[in-house]
Amino acid sequence: MAQRTRRNGRPASLNGRTAVVTGAASGIGRALAQRLAAHGSPVAICDWDEDGLQETAASIPGPVFARKLDVSDRQAQLQFAAAVQEWAPAPIGLAVNNAGVTVSQTAAEAAVEDDEWVVTVNFWGVVHGTRAFLPILLANGSGAIVNVSSVFGLMGFPTQSAYCASKFAVRGYTESLRHELRGSDVRAITVHPGGIRTNIVRNARFHVDDTGNTDHEKLVQEFAKNARTSPAKAAKTIHAGVENGKQRILIGPDAVAISLVTRIAPVRYFDVIERVMAAARR
Ligand SMILES: NC(=O)c1ccc[n+]([C@@H]2O[C@H](COP(=O)([O-])OP(=O)(O)OC[C@H]3O[C@@H](n4cnc5c(N)ncnc54)[C@H](O)[C@@H]3O)[C@@H](O)[C@H]2O)c1
Repeated sequence: MAQRTRRNGRPASLNGRTAVVTGAASGIGRALAQRLAAHGSPVAICDWDEDGLQETAASIPGPVFARKLDVSDRQAQLQFAAAVQEWAPAPIGLAVNNAGVTVSQTAAEAAVEDDEWVVTVNFWGVVHGTRAFLPILLANGSGAIVNVSSVFGLMGFPTQSAYCASKFAVRGYTESLRHELRGSDVRAITVHPGGIRTNIVRNARFHVDDTGNTDHEKLVQEFAKNARTSPAKAAKTIHAGVENGKQRILIGPDAVAISLVTRIAPVRYFDVIERVMAAARR
């Protein structure tokens, strides 16, 4: 099943191959499932939010396989992979480990249960998804594992210590895998979105934000105002990045700027970022 032909150094297109997207009941995952389906891929989607998942499935006119699961459940991910393989009308070419959650609390005050929740879903969910689908892609001879990190996988941020830790971990895991896969036609791709207008902040376990605000709804409104990129635009950037052979996909001008400033000033970057954020709030 290998599709090794490359034109202009680009990998063979994955359009039309079966695509798997976790966390597809909302936000980036939903938009990506819709976009991949619109480009001819049968899609297999999962989420722990069954109602949202069914809404996504109903919005997709082509072949779709939907399963309620918790990505931090290793056995459930393995069973999902087996079921997708049995269902798939076309060979599996893409597995996007996208599901994620966050908690907003200082490191000093954070409850261990909240920190464990974030790391278990964001990091172990990605590891379980990778372990479930990588052997299938390797057996098929080509494809891509796409793991969603964040700009918080590029920089630390106050009240996001567990989230940042989980997203740095996703980056380290995926970059290591990328190097292991050199010489094969299976790729490991990291995605670093900036602010995307999704439900991520509304779905957060919220205690306090970086300004000292303890009103969750206030942060939800501020995030909706400041997050520059729509989920559809994020999905388009991920899809184009995968098709163009990118190994690291930055989403939005904020992500590009953060990537730059953390490399130019690896210790002092937050001084710059804080000033930009304060100016944006005025
Ligand atoms: N929105 C942003 O600004 C932003 C920025 C950087 C990174 N990200 C990352 O993008 C990814 C998608 O998030 P989003 O912004 O679309 O948020 P979202 O809350 O709209 O969507 C996340 C989806 O993941 C699902 N999910 C959460 N935990 C799960 C679990 N244990 N098992 C199965 N499904 C689970 C949720 O039910 C939801 O449908 C996440 O990994 C997030 O960390 C988002």
